[in-house]
Amino acid sequence: MTTGRILIVGASRGIGLGLVRSYLDDGWTVHATTRTPEAPGELGSLAGPIFVHGFDVLDDTDGLVPAVGGLDVLIHNAGVGRGTPRDLMMAVNAEAPIRVVQAFLDAGSLTTGGRVVIVTSQMGARRGSTESLGDYGDSKAALNDEFRARADTWAERGLVAVVVHPGWVRTDMGGEAAPLSIEESAEGMRTLIARLGPENHGGFWTWDGREHPW
Ligand SMILES: NC(=O)c1ccc[n+]([C@@H]2O[C@H](COP(=O)([O-])OP(=O)(O)OC[C@H]3O[C@@H](n4cnc5c(N)ncnc54)[C@H](OP(=O)(O)O)[C@@H]3O)[C@@H](O)[C@H]2O)c1
Repeated sequence: MTTGRILIVGASRGIGLGLVRSYLDDGWTVHATTRTPEAPGELGSLAGPIFVHGFDVLDDTDGLVPAVGGLDVLIHNAGVGRGTPRDLMMAVNAEAPIRVVQAFLDAGSLTTGGRVVIVTSQMGARRGSTESLGDYGDSKAALNDEFRARADTWAERGLVAVVVHPGWVRTDMGGEAAPLSIEESAEGMRTLIARLGPENHGGFWTWDGREHPW
């Protein structure tokens, strides 16, 4: 897949915005969501085939799904970090990605060979432990658990779906001490997504193409 149609959910800043820039530069048709379409910031100044949609992942998907239409790749990137109340963290990080992806699949927006990438975190890796990983880690672990529970069903649709840890990245969430730039993370994720095949379906991957333990 060299170019195509991609949706990036949670694209106002950080890694999501980096993914938008990268895919646009390479000639993709990009659908990008922001919670503040009236003040889109950099999203509003990018040249090329970009469609900006107002969407909060806590909202229903009834308007978004038909507005976006057919897709080759869906990346659910939106997330909240430490300091967010636990209930909101679970709703945004664990429940919303599954609900949003399921809505696009139910609508038939992604066809055979389509790719679904949900941005998770290495902080959500349980590694066999039953101890709490903290609110943020618990939310990403719950996301990973539900993703694994649905992976077989999603595979039946001929899709390749994965969860990906984007690395520790210099964003508002990752902080200034993080070793990776947004561009490095976005390019790594793009390389990974481009080479995903059916044998990779249902996996937990890192931005630099390694499988991550659950
Ligand atoms: N940075 C890291 O080191 C790191 C490490 C591991 C995993 N991650 C994951 O990578 C993803 C992106 O992180 P980031 O570092 O780029 O974070 P960020 O700079 O804080 O950006 C977060 C993005 O998520 C959006 N968002 C938050 N709540 C939303 C909601 N309710 N509805 C729609 N969009 C919402 C934000 O939109 P607004 O601008 O409207 O707030 C923003 O676009 C997250 O899932 C995060 O958990 C990041």
